[in-house]
Amino acid sequence: MLKSFVELSLGTDTEKLASALNMNPEQVTCVETSKSMRKVLENKGYSVTTSIPDINDVLEADESQSSRPLFSFVSLLNVIDRCDNPKALLESAISSLQPGGHLLLSIVLPFSGRVYEGKLFHPWKRARSRKPLFPLQLLSDFDIPNEKSFEVNAAMFFEAILRLQPQLELVKWTRLPYVSSGDLKRTHYPLDMAVAVLKLNPNLPTLASSDKTSVVAKSGSESLPLTCQNKGKSKIFTWLQKTLVDNGYVKASWGKVLDAGAGVNSMCWLLRQSYDTVTGVTARPAGLDSYGDALHSFVDDSVNIVVGNWKDKAFMKETNQYDIVLSDYLLGSTELHWRFGAEMLLERILTVLKPNGFLLIIGLEPYEMILHRSDPHDRLVLDIEAIGDSVALLIGESTYRELPQQWVIEQIDRRPDFEVVATQQFAMKLTAESMRRQLAYATKTAAKIVDRDFRVAFEKRIEDLTLSLDTFETHNKARNYAVVVQRKNKSGE
Ligand SMILES: C[S@@+](CC[C@H](N)C(=O)[O-])C[C@H]1O[C@@H](n2cnc3c(N)ncnc32)[C@H](O)[C@@H]1O
Repeated sequence: MLKSFVELSLGTDTEKLASALNMNPEQVTCVETSKSMRKVLENKGYSVTTSIPDINDVLEADESQSSRPLFSFVSLLNVIDRCDNPKALLESAISSLQPGGHLLLSIVLPFSGRVYEGKLFHPWKRARSRKPLFPLQLLSDFDIPNEKSFEVNAAMFFEAILRLQPQLELVKWTRLPYVSSGDLKRTHYPLDMAVAVLKLNPNLPTLASSDKTSVVAKSGSESLPLTCQNKGKSKIFTWLQKTLVDNGYVKASWGKVLDAGAGVNSMCWLLRQSYDTVTGVTARPAGLDSYGDALHSFVDDSVNIVVGNWKDKAFMKETNQYDIVLSDYLLGSTELHWRFGAEMLLERILTVLKPNGFLLIIGLEPYEMILHRSDPHDRLVLDIEAIGDSVALLIGESTYRELPQQWVIEQIDRRPDFEVVATQQFAMKLTAESMRRQLAYATKTAAKIVDRDFRVAFEKRIEDLTLSLDTFETHNKARNYAVVVQRKNKSGE
C-alpha cells in the first residue's frame, strides 16, 4: 500500500502532495502536534497522529501485522531546521520508510536551525525563537569562505543528511524560490529553498555496521547532552577538524577515539563527531584538573570514562588501539598527576595510536616564551602567573607546567614512525576576569602557607596585583597552539 506521512500546517500542501503521488487521503498519515490543525486534516480524511512512533502503533494495531508497517514515501518539508533534534527526526523518518522507499525533503537555505516557542499567529506577541538543543552539524564548521553560493549551502546541507543517514541516496534535487514572512523592517524576505528526493538503499552500509559497535547512533550529535550546548566549539577544534579533512581523513566515522586528558570541552567536541567509540581518560574522579565525576554526570553509558593515571604502567597498555587521540591541555596539566612525566606521557599516548591514526595536541605556549618583562602589560600577566606558581611550590603542591610547541615538535621529530603534519597558533585573550581567577587560585593556595609572616606577605602581594587589574586592558599576546601528528604506517607512507 502506498502511504505517506506529511508534516504540514493547513493541509493544502498535503493535498497537493497526495495528488502528485496519486494517493487518496486515507492512504496518507500526517504528523501534526497542533490540535486545531489536526482537526482540519482529519476533516479532509487524512489519518493524523502527533508523533512518528504513534504512527507505527496506530498502524500495527489496525492492520494486525506482526512486523511494523513501513511507508513507501515520507516527506519532511521545511521541518529539519525547525526542530530541536534534526538527527533524531531524520532517524525516526527513515526507520518508518520501507527499503527502496523515498524521502522528500525541503529546506530553506542557507540552513538556519531555529526552534520557535510561544504563541504563533498571535496579533501582538511574536513567537520567541532559540537555537535547537541538538543542532545539525554542517560543514560550515570547517570554515568555508564567507559568501557561500546557494549550491555550496545545498552541498553542506546534503552532506550533513547523508553523513547521518548513509543509506540514503540523493536521487534528484532542485532550487525553488521561498518567500518568508517579514518583520517590522520588511514585509517579506525572498529566500531560496532546496527540494530533494532521496531513496533508502538498504544495500549501502550504515554507520553502525561493519566491525563497529553501534555507539555512533546513540551518541552522535543527536544525543548531544545539554551540557555540551555551548561547549567544544572553539576555533582550535574547528581548525583541527579541517586539518584532518585536509590530510585525507574524510571518513563517515572517526573510528575509535580517545580523549587522553578528558574534560567537558574536549569531550563535547568529540561527541559532536561521528565515531565508533569514544573513551575519555581523567586522573581522578574529582578535584582540580580531574573530571571523572563531571564527565559521568553528563555522558551516557556509550562513552567509556576511564579514571586512572598514565603514569601507571598497567594503565591503557594495549598498543595500536585508537584512530584519533586527543591531548587537549593534557601535557601541561600532567605535572599535577605525574611530576616530570610529560615526555613519558607523550610516549604512552603515541603508543596507543594506530598506524595512520592522528594525535591532536592542544597546548598553551608558556607565557615566558612570548611575553617580556620590559612591557608593563606583559609584566602584570607574568607576575600574576608567577604568584600562583610560587605559592604552590612553597607549600609543596604541584601546578601546571606548560610546554612549548617547539618541545612537542622536537619530541615528534625524533620518532621516525611519527610526523607532524600541521601546526597552528591561536591568539588568546586574557581579560581582567581571567586574571582574577588566577589570583583566586593564588589566594586559596596562599591560605595554606604555615609561616604567618610569609603568608601575610604573599597575601599583600596578591592584593596589590588584584588592585592593578582595575586598569587592565584585555591582553592578547598569549598563544595557544595545536599540533597534528600522524603515525606513519609500516611501509613508512
Ligand atoms: C586540563 S584538563 C584538560 C582539559 C580538558 N580536555 C577540557 O576539555 O577542559 C587535563 C585532563 O587530563 C587529565 N590528566 C592529566 N594528567 C593525567 C595523567 N597523568 N593521567 C591521567 N589523566 C591525566 C586530568 O585529570 C584532566 O582530566
